[in-house]
Amino acid sequence: LFAGQSEFLKGVVAMSGLPPADRIEVCFAGRSNVGKSSLINALTGTKGLARASNTPGRTQEINFFTQGPELYLVDLPGYGYANAPLAVVEKWQRLLKQYLSGRQTLRRAFVLIDTRHGVKKVDEEIMKLLDTSAVTFQVVMTKADKVKEKDRAKILDQVRDALSKHPAAYPEIVLTSSEKGDGIATLRSIIAHLD
Ligand code: GTP
Ligand code: MG
Repeated sequence: LFAGQSEFLKGVVAMSGLPPADRIEVCFAGRSNVGKSSLINALTGTKGLARASNTPGRTQEINFFTQGPELYLVDLPGYGYANAPLAVVEKWQRLLKQYLSGRQTLRRAFVLIDTRHGVKKVDEEIMKLLDTSAVTFQVVMTKADKVKEKDRAKILDQVRDALSKHPAAYPEIVLTSSEKGDGIATLRSIIAHLD
């Protein structure tokens, strides 16, 4: 699945703009700056594909990337960005709900959690939304390179505890670093085995 080329297809701001649901799709959700775009770049091995920036909240649209002919990788807008105007937040929340509950080919959502911070309130909210939308989700820990191995267990316990409350949660947690490449092959394999 990851052998082919990856390309940015389009940014979507309304359901009418969604590309044809003609292939498997996975999406990446997470707080602003958690590392969604960087993870997509790492998975596809294409630097600069999904714009990774230091400015939080820059990815405002649902961004579709093709990975070969059989897979879409979908970069969702970052949530929990305090400076975004309420109207903007509400608009994308509406779109997100419609997308999550209405997309037939969506196989799994990956909820990205910063290894330094663990599950926050806004993450809980997105997990609840995934529960109610009946979208199986799996947690991907990001920026693992920023946390020493001995300090990871405590955060992982907190994440496991949070997941236990969510019926749509897939229990396996994937620890990644887009910077160092840790966990990237594992995540590719997980995606490749979805059907
Ligand atoms: P928004 O699009 O604003 O929601 O952010 P995002 O979730 O797409 O985050 P992005 O990939 O742009 O990364 C945010 C910042 O974190 C950038 O400065 C990245 O270089 C950095 N970053 C992302 N992944 C890693 C990682 O694995 N390790 C380290 N050390 N830094 C990372
Ligand atoms: Mg981004």
